[in-house]
Amino acid sequence: MFSAMLISRLRSAKTVSVLTGAGISAESGVPTFRGEEGLWQKFRPEELANFDAFLRNPKLVWEWYNYRKHIVNQVAPNAGHYAISKMESLFPHFHLITQNVDDLHRKAGSKQIYELHGNIMRNRCVDCSKHYNEMPEADQDVLPRCDCGGLIRPDVVWFGETLPPLELKRSFDAARSSDVFFSIGTSAVVQPAASLPLEAKHEGAYVVEINIEPTAISHYVDETILGKAAEILPQLVEKLIE
Ligand code: OAD
Repeated sequence: MFSAMLISRLRSAKTVSVLTGAGISAESGVPTFRGEEGLWQKFRPEELANFDAFLRNPKLVWEWYNYRKHIVNQVAPNAGHYAISKMESLFPHFHLITQNVDDLHRKAGSKQIYELHGNIMRNRCVDCSKHYNEMPEADQDVLPRCDCGGLIRPDVVWFGETLPPLELKRSFDAARSSDVFFSIGTSAVVQPAASLPLEAKHEGAYVVEINIEPTAISHYVDETILGKAAEILPQLVEKLIE
């Protein structure tokens, strides 16, 4: 399943980076966004995942995030998350970049994570930006509010918003310095995250994609390994430590 080139590149790699998307959490039971069963088939992002929508109807947006938080609270990391957490100790420099907000990489033990789209477990005030990790869930009638009176929102990135600058810079630095770069479980259509594998490739990394189907970047990467991340990644780690 793994090419001799990939194994050889990994054995000599000083810097390895991994970009993950919703597909890494699919086998934990977290729905992906695109595809037949994806969230964006059933829900409209323009009503739920942008700031104007939140100001128009914060209750609806909170219901949607509480629904997603409920799912995330019920599930556990899968073998793919654990394999990535193991990879952190296999290379001199390892960077994990995720578009996911589900916190499952942290639960699997990954230490250093660049969360490009925020984290669904964190919240912040729209007025003063105070962060709230623990917060009573918004209910039907009462919207969560900050000490300052401002509305509290989930600390995630919505469409039209900029990504956290430090995480973004570190992610691009990581991509540019990688010897091997993995793009795992992402359709690679949402920018700027989708540019990371291409940037890595441009700077000389060996770029490998792991996905159940070809994606927007399959033509550009060095290898596409077709299959479930939770099955492929543990086998890859096994191969590296044998
Ligand atoms: P998508 O839903 O666009 O893509 C998920 C990818 O995972 C698809 O390419 C699937 O083929 C693949 N996949 C599904 N199951 C898999 C499995 N078991 N193993 C490996 N791959 C699998 O999700 P993302 O690419 O993460 O942003 O989407 C990027 C962003 O778009 C999200 O972060 C979110 C969304 O709108 C915001 O909300 C800002």
